[in-house]
Amino acid sequence: MAAFYLAVGSVYGAAEHVAEQLEAKLTQQGHSVQWIESDDPESIVAVASDVLMVITSTTGSGDLPDNLAPLFYALKDRFPMLPGLRYGVIALGDSSYGETFCGAGRQFDELLTELGARRIGERLQIDACETFAPEEEALKWLPQWLAQLERQPVNAE
Ligand SMILES: Cc1cc2nc3c(=O)[nH]c(=O)nc-3n(C[C@H](O)[C@H](O)[C@H](O)COP(=O)(O)O)c2cc1C
Repeated sequence: MAAFYLAVGSVYGAAEHVAEQLEAKLTQQGHSVQWIESDDPESIVAVASDVLMVITSTTGSGDLPDNLAPLFYALKDRFPMLPGLRYGVIALGDSSYGETFCGAGRQFDELLTELGARRIGERLQIDACETFAPEEEALKWLPQWLAQLERQPVNAE
């Protein structure tokens, strides 16, 4: 069983709802789940040998929601190396925004890679143009992502 930490960015609640559904599923499967509620980068450093799931929508023009941006910029500033951290990204967006599609999830993904963390699987991008039920996409994606996580234990090369 793994310890999961969720960093959630949401403006209107869709990404938050996805995170709640994921939390319920993971908890049901016996994992522990906690939300990162702090903007302090040490909250990520403290869980750097566990699993982080970033679940964020995109706002503005490829921007992070206000409730996740402070943590992102503080991490970028403090720049702690996180080689033991395994992470996944669920990015919500709308493809009608063109080049900024899922920009917030992409930015967080790129930052974590720069910090030496290891992404498990591919980033999931959920397009509001294609679905009104992003939580269904996320729950469909989760089992294969968990299978990949199991194959990549802590500090595996
Ligand atoms: C003002 C505004 C700006 C947005 N900008 C983008 C964007 O740049 N890129 C993108 O992919 N989606 C963009 N979106 C779409 C949202 O990311 C998408 O609808 C998402 O599902 C909203 O999730 P939330 O309810 O958790 O905020 C924007 C939506 C709004 C209302």
